[in-house]
Amino acid sequence: MTSSPSDPPASPPPANLGGQAMWGGRFSQKPAELMQAINVSIGFDKRLAAQDLAGSRAHAAMLFSTGVVSGEDAAAIRGGLDTIAAEIEAGTFPFRDEYEDIHMNVEARLRELIGPAAGRLHTARSRNDQVALDFRMWVRDACDRTIAQFRTLQRALLEKAEAHADTVMPGFTHLQPAQPVTFGHHLMAYVEMFGRDASRFADARARMNESPLGAAALAGSPFPIDRVQTATALGFDRPTANSLDSVADRDFALESLAAASIAATHLSRLAEEIVIWMTPQFGFIRLSDAFTTGSSIMPQKKNPDAAELVRAKVGRLLGSFTQLSVVMKGLPLTYSKDMQEDKVPTFEAFDALELSLSATAGMVLDLEPDVERMSAAAGAGFSTATDLADWLVRELGMPFRDAHHVTGSAVKRAEVLGVGLPDLPLAELQALDARITAGVYDVLTPEASVASRRSYGGTAPDQVRAQIERWKEALA
Ligand code: ARG
Repeated sequence: MTSSPSDPPASPPPANLGGQAMWGGRFSQKPAELMQAINVSIGFDKRLAAQDLAGSRAHAAMLFSTGVVSGEDAAAIRGGLDTIAAEIEAGTFPFRDEYEDIHMNVEARLRELIGPAAGRLHTARSRNDQVALDFRMWVRDACDRTIAQFRTLQRALLEKAEAHADTVMPGFTHLQPAQPVTFGHHLMAYVEMFGRDASRFADARARMNESPLGAAALAGSPFPIDRVQTATALGFDRPTANSLDSVADRDFALESLAAASIAATHLSRLAEEIVIWMTPQFGFIRLSDAFTTGSSIMPQKKNPDAAELVRAKVGRLLGSFTQLSVVMKGLPLTYSKDMQEDKVPTFEAFDALELSLSATAGMVLDLEPDVERMSAAAGAGFSTATDLADWLVRELGMPFRDAHHVTGSAVKRAEVLGVGLPDLPLAELQALDARITAGVYDVLTPEASVASRRSYGGTAPDQVRAQIERWKEALA
């Protein structure tokens, strides 16, 4: 359809809207400077420019194909939007505070570029569905970028894990040596966590992928709009089914901030381990100069600042989630200007997450474990005591509780003699239970201990390699 039967007569547009708001008709005074100061959002919502233009393009195309605007006007709007896109790209677009936000900045510029036809673009649309659309698309893009970053981080972990599937280290509970594990197994634990993080973003993305465009101010539109057309053009699965919900909710942002907060919690744990492993007391890993900083006063220092900052970013992310939750809590339906405060925390959260993910992937690839120190530590602290108890159960048929007791006595004896369990003389063990044979020594080294833990998901190198293969295929 090229012509619209219901083209309203064009009202003469103000030649220049400078200082006069878009809703000028109802108003005789300019807003107070303070009003503008608290109202203006262009400083941050300019980040929605690409989404705003995409939404306007789809909307204009739909207005044309449903006969709401003429082919001529639609072409002029399309041309104007192209020019604006080019101006934004070139950095010459005039972002102006007097036009308050990105939506009105684009429309005002469009009017300067193409004249009265610009006024037809906002037919059957409100800034309420417009901002809901733009923001949703921004968050959707951010989720996609985040998922890709998680995959990069997982690949980095897989690479290190594969190289160290046999490298033994102490496994900890309470940060006390518990049982030997492999470094590869330890890194693969994070591959699992980051896999769930990525899937949380994918779930959120799937849920948010409905287009609010066409909800208009809150009640829908009297124009014969095609919401499926705009939804499809913008990559949504379908239009949202309730116009009030469409403009009133920001749960898509909240959900991704929740996912981001959980992910940041995981990242902070890995960061903390990097900090601990790098201390000279642990000495488990080295980070190159690329991911460390020096001290201005203590020449010997090499500080894991990047890891510390990743560890700290969770504060910002959780703060963003809290911030937006508080903004949304108790808001009556539908739109309230409070919701303009949805963007800054969301932008900040994704910026922080992006940086944290990049820095973490960088550190993972950069870190080099000190295999000897890790292995020495793996055998310290009587870490194979459980293996001794298990041997007593398996070979002598002892109930586990008794075996636990006998092993406790062996540890006590080894401590007194100042030796590790693998060096405790057989006579000492036989004094605890005469049936113990030299075969017990086969299970008392960290290497034997990890090799024996072949249960599904266990730390035995062949189990770890199987999981590495599974993930490699999943990420291929
Ligand atoms: N800048 C506004 C925001 O971010 C756009 C929507 C304004 N809508 C309104 N009815 N005042 O929320």
